[in-house]
Amino acid sequence: MDNRIPAVQMRGITKTFGKVVANHDVSIDIQRGEILSLLGENGSGKTTLMNMLSGIYCPDSGQIEVDGKEVSIRSPKDALGLGIGMIHQHYKLVDVMTATENIVLGLKEEKYDLKAASGRVRDICSRYGFDLNPDQKVYDMTVSQKQTVEIVKVLYRKADILILDEPTAVLTPQETEKLFDVLRNMKKDNKAVIIITHKLNEVLEISDRVDILRAGEFIGSLKTSETNAQEMTDMMVGHSVALNIDRPDPVDPKPRIRISNLTVRSEEGLVKLDNVSFTANSGEILGIAGISNSGQKELLEAISGLQPIETGDIAYIYPDGREVSLIGKDPLDIQRLGVSLSFVPEDRLGMGLVGNMDMTDNMMLRSFRKGRGVFVDRGTPKGVAMDVKDNLEVVTPGLSTPVRRLSGGNVQKVLVGREIASAPSVLLTAYAVRGLDINSSYAIYDLMNQQKQRGVAVVYVGEDLDVLLELADRILVLCGGKVSGIVDGRKTNKYEVGSMMTTLGGGAAT
Ligand SMILES: Nc1ncnc2c1ncn2[C@@H]1O[C@H](COP(=O)(O)OP(=O)(O)OP(=O)(O)O)[C@@H](O)[C@H]1O
Ligand SMILES: [Mg+2]
Repeated sequence: MDNRIPAVQMRGITKTFGKVVANHDVSIDIQRGEILSLLGENGSGKTTLMNMLSGIYCPDSGQIEVDGKEVSIRSPKDALGLGIGMIHQHYKLVDVMTATENIVLGLKEEKYDLKAASGRVRDICSRYGFDLNPDQKVYDMTVSQKQTVEIVKVLYRKADILILDEPTAVLTPQETEKLFDVLRNMKKDNKAVIIITHKLNEVLEISDRVDILRAGEFIGSLKTSETNAQEMTDMMVGHSVALNIDRPDPVDPKPRIRISNLTVRSEEGLVKLDNVSFTANSGEILGIAGISNSGQKELLEAISGLQPIETGDIAYIYPDGREVSLIGKDPLDIQRLGVSLSFVPEDRLGMGLVGNMDMTDNMMLRSFRKGRGVFVDRGTPKGVAMDVKDNLEVVTPGLSTPVRRLSGGNVQKVLVGREIASAPSVLLTAYAVRGLDINSSYAIYDLMNQQKQRGVAVVYVGEDLDVLLELADRILVLCGGKVSGIVDGRKTNKYEVGSMMTTLGGGAAT
């Protein structure tokens, strides 16, 4: 038994939105000097619970105590006054301002002494190990740097209870490691840290304890040193889940997309793809590996007609062997050939879906080819929306609920589901499981396999090497916009692919 008074104690918290019970009688606590993970499927109520601690929502019933005293938190300002700061999934920074200007935004005294403020920002950065230039403008920053600004912003306001909502969903493995070092420093500094993540290896690596929610209810709390991925998953889902990915044999693979000597430059004139050549076959999953910004985005966009190319060719090959060049074709015409792109962006609501529209209307934003759906073809956008909802188990009060009301992971299922429902012949997908819980991630892997078995040429850009190694038939490794090599998914390993990601050729066998 731990007899210390917790930094935070939430007791019997219930919160409903109309008919949706987001949290029901939830009690959790956290100590100072502790890192706590919050784990649960998409829509299980994690963000809602933390939003009540950070003053975004008020509970319908229940109490919150800070250092043993009952408190009333009615706004984020109240929360910060109690030392509680939350870093949300969607950042709220002003692009044209510098890091420091954003950090002190809203604070009266600092407005007049930006130099002193930027000195304090530097102090905070060196104390916790952040890599941040206080004078850099936000529009020049990577997502990871923007996240750093958000974290420093709450530390600047002296928060000592920090909540991070899926901070690693948009980070590369290297950036995640850096963030974890910072969190460890916070822990040493006796801060209480609550982190929401769907990645079980991260839960095990970074946190002391994990609290599990299921359908809005508290299920249990485990010491991470005493548990494992399987136990956590089973508790989270409520039944046993097999944690392995199938890899059926490729089905009659035939070249479907052939890329020859493709070179693409960014608007600024930087070479993003450098003389890239490969073939994507029908009935096969081609995995694309690479550290972030190695040309993955440009590659998928070039095939989709969204990216002007400098030299080279992209050919679409019909089942009967006829070929057509996609160069200079309109993106809609390419889509009509059955080339479908689902790119899950860092900001899930930023691209592809319209938050204010409901699922049905979002389906209408995509033209569907009749009668060839994976799902029962109900013919209408409403039918497609129903199929996506049923097949991907999208948790939503109804098809007419605006998409932005859904939990983060559910928003994403709508995005991926819509592309698959269009019955593509080529499915280009990037970061398909970003922000998805483990169960839904496996549902997506199954869907990719189903697509492959239907003869679709699947091109799967992924961040998680372990998954690529289990799922893909072949893996194309990009390194700085060049093809570092193409390896057999069944024969390679993490070290080989990892080294090819950072060094051209990487000493690979092929
Ligand atoms: N403002 C809102 N209005 C209506 N319903 C909401 C609102 N916010 C959350 N919900 C609903 O409450 C439930 C819990 O959502 P919440 O965002 O807390 O889940 P989560 O565990 O954070 O999921 P994810 O892992 O997908 O981010 C969901 O069914 C969601 O649709
Ligand atoms: Mg959430």
